[in-house]
Order: sequence, then C-alpha cells, then structure tokens
Amino acid sequence: MEWVKAFAPATVANVSCGFDILGFAIDGMGDTVKLQRREEPGLRVVSIQGDQGRLPLDVEKNTCAVAIQAMLDELGQDIGLDIFLEKGLPLGSGMGSSAASAVAALVAANRLLGEPFEKKDLLPFAIAAEKAACGAGHADNVAPSLLGGFVLIRDYHPLDVIRLHVPEGLFCTLLHPHFELRTADSRSVLRDQIPLKHATLQSGNVAGLVAGLFLEDFELISRSLKDVIAEPYRAVLIPGFYEVREAVKAAGALGMGISGSGPTLFALSKGSEKAEAIAKAAEEVYRSIGLGVDVYFSEINTRGGYVIEE
Ligand code: HSE
Repeated sequence: MEWVKAFAPATVANVSCGFDILGFAIDGMGDTVKLQRREEPGLRVVSIQGDQGRLPLDVEKNTCAVAIQAMLDELGQDIGLDIFLEKGLPLGSGMGSSAASAVAALVAANRLLGEPFEKKDLLPFAIAAEKAACGAGHADNVAPSLLGGFVLIRDYHPLDVIRLHVPEGLFCTLLHPHFELRTADSRSVLRDQIPLKHATLQSGNVAGLVAGLFLEDFELISRSLKDVIAEPYRAVLIPGFYEVREAVKAAGALGMGISGSGPTLFALSKGSEKAEAIAKAAEEVYRSIGLGVDVYFSEINTRGGYVIEE
C-alpha cells in the first residue's frame, strides 16, 4: 500500500460540566490527511491546505507529524512518509481543529502500516500531538474524534476512556463567531483551585449528564448542562455569550455552553427542527451585536475517524 487518505471529525469538548473529561463528535465537518510512502526514512509535511499558511510544516511542531512520530517511536520503526493535510476546520475555533488533524493522520498511518494498533490504542499518540499544539495533553477532543460518539475520559493516568450512550434524536448546533481564541489563552484564565461547593455542583452535573444520556432523559440532560468551573471565566472572552444563551434556550435548546475552549458555542436539542431554530435565533443575536457567525447543526457522529481512500 503506497498511500492512504483518512478523515477525522470536529468535536465539542467539555460539554459544559465535563471540563477536560467529556466530549462528542460532530457529523460532516472535519480534517483530511493523505499519507504517501517515500523511500528515504523520516516524516515530511509536504502541504497544508485551508490554513492560510499559518500552521507549521516543521515536523517537530506539526500535529500530524508529532502524532505519527509518537506512533512510529512506539513501534520502533523509521519509515519515510509524506504528509498532506486538508483543513476543513477553522483554527482556534474550539471545534477540535488540532485534534482532528492528529486523529486523521494516525488513522491513515495505522492503515498504511497494516493496522498494528486497535483504534482506541492510537489515543496516547493523539494526546502527545495535542500537547505539542496547545501545551496541554487533554483528550476530550482527540478521544471523540477518534472513536466517535460521546466519550468520557474517567482518568488520564492510566488512560481510562469510556464511550457513552448517544440518545436517538440528540442534535448539536454549533455557533462559530468570526474570531479566534487560542486554547492556551483560554486555559490561562482558569483557576488552579475550585471551592468545595463548586466541586460538588460540578460532580452532580457530570453524573446527571451521563445518566441522562444512558436513560435518554432529555430533561435530565438539560438540567445537567451547567459549568461552574470554566465557563464563568471564559464567557467574558466571548462577546454575546449570555444573550445568545437566552435566545437559544427560548428557541428550545436543552442547554448551551462553550465548545472546548471557545469561541464556538454549542447547543444541544432534541430533533433537527429545534437545532435549526436554535441556529436562526443565535444568528439574530450575533447580527444585533455586529459579529459574523457560521452556524451548523448535525446529529452526534458515532463513527469517529476513518479511512476514506487507499
Ligand atoms: N478541555 C479543553 C479546554 C478543550 O477546555 O481547554 C480544548 O479544546
């Protein structure tokens, strides 16, 4: 096999109450990576499309290359690979852009090498790439991008990743305002310590959300979409956050929060009609505050990263 092309989807990390431990994948949007074998050993990032020349070609910094190198180091192999990345996701958007690139690269590399790893075992390599991209090795984007569905990272040391149930008819609306927020900046506003009463509230909501998913109890999901750890500090970085939340709730959202580290916002709803109404309601708010926005809605993606051509 000389070349493989793979796709990995966008993701919503945190899902309000699950800071660094919950995430889910979105249908339709994502990044594509083609890998081509080369005679002489070593990785080379040959081209990146859709990034306006902003992502590094340097293999020490490029998330695709960092992820593949971590995998090759584990295998003790030194093969020659050319990397071609097509960005389908905007940078600094909070939709798991760096994660989707790393996951697509790993899914392609794994296939090219004859699938030495099961899909879930690619996760540590994707986390290494995430660390290189934003300074923190969180898995709440890479895990759902790789595995699809709703994912819980119960622990990082050792890694314990659990796929949760996705209720039929659960939709996500994404609201991507036209500005960037770097994950490192959005993490820098967070506090190192949280009050005990916030830990209690947050644990209750995570447990409620997980139970709500398994019970397909949309009311419980709705009551649980609350975050007292990150959102209060990050919301101030996102113009219109509270106005948009009021409008999307009135339009039938189960809840709304910051997608990953922002500035994209996500809203969950039951059914596609509500998802569309939420998108329209949010567009009006953004128009009223003079901020451009892209809106998108889809069901939860349960497939994750996959090979599209070889
Ligand atoms: N859990 C991470 C954060 C996700 O909130 O910083 C970054 O996309």
